[in-house]
Amino acid sequence: MTLLPNLILVSRTHGLLVTISLTFLLISSPAPSSSLSLDFYSSSCPNVELLIKNTVRSATAMDPTLPGKLLRLVFHDCIVEGCDGSVLVQGNDTERSDPANRSLAGFEVVESAKRWLEVLCPGTVSCADILVLAARDAVEIAGGPSVPVPLGRRDGRTSSAANVRPNMVDTSFSIDEMAQLFSSKGLSLDDLVILSGAHTIGKAHCSAFSERLEPIDTSLNKDYATELIKQCPAGANAAVTVDNDPVTASLFDNQYYTNLVSRKGLFSSDSVLMSDRRTRGRVESLSANQDEFFNSWSDSFLRMVNIGVKTGDAQGEIRSSCSTVNA
Ligand code: HEM
Repeated sequence: MTLLPNLILVSRTHGLLVTISLTFLLISSPAPSSSLSLDFYSSSCPNVELLIKNTVRSATAMDPTLPGKLLRLVFHDCIVEGCDGSVLVQGNDTERSDPANRSLAGFEVVESAKRWLEVLCPGTVSCADILVLAARDAVEIAGGPSVPVPLGRRDGRTSSAANVRPNMVDTSFSIDEMAQLFSSKGLSLDDLVILSGAHTIGKAHCSAFSERLEPIDTSLNKDYATELIKQCPAGANAAVTVDNDPVTASLFDNQYYTNLVSRKGLFSSDSVLMSDRRTRGRVESLSANQDEFFNSWSDSFLRMVNIGVKTGDAQGEIRSSCSTVNA
């Protein structure tokens, strides 16, 4: 174990100066463990959470769209091959190259945190854990609850585009199709209602919902549909985006559910949560009570970031760079 006293680190992340002062920095070999725990890095990399939070905070100060991007990124990681950082791997035929993942973003925040962590605690913190923590922090920075997250995930060595479609939800899915896919990951219909609340932040490209505008989907509020048509006119540039939540766009709050109640869900996969009698009551209740949403969010988020985790020395690896599996 090496003790580095009074080390001051200064970094430029997204053009912003980040200063991390560590009175005593402990560097040691990775903690041996075969399951997730809240204190997994407490001796091997005690400042991991502080460093990641600072990275996400300063990156968000430069680019306020990052919380939405990071939150979507962790969902797409966990739902395919489990939460193992497989979505981060670059290259032909990796998950990231699949059309369903092409609009994912925020990778550079994870890479930036990883570069620092490789200096502070080399070979210790997985990209899978960095992504989960970054998404957790993104929610808190956007005004949502802070969730203590058990750590110790290892990075997968497989990332294949062929695994994306069979495991990915689509906006055209019926509620039964979504429930079935969630159930295959150990998530319930209620988890679907809660985790869809992630759409209280972030943005969507016009192509993700344009089929609802021509002709106007009768389950959409007319004024909202008119507003969407204005923002996404026929032939609009493919890069144009709209806010997922038209009322409090960058705030992580329960407005998503209030939008659903007033038939302002952006995707049909959002609207069905209000039209289906099995989930309508819960949507109405969440719309009236933000604490209920935040408490349930913490539980459902923890279940999501627990999907198919790899732990222990026998599974996966700790990547040196998040975008490539180790040689
Ligand atoms: C269950 C069915 C779901 C469907 C069909 C769905 C679909 C989509 C689509 C089509 C977009 C727009 C992407 C774009 O155009 O760039 C989007 C955005 C987003 N989704 Fe979902 N999603 C679902 C669940 C979730 C879950 C469970 C989470 C996280 C827990 C999540 C988090 C997000 C976030 C934060 C954004 C905004 C991304 C950004 O700002 O770049 N979604 N989703």
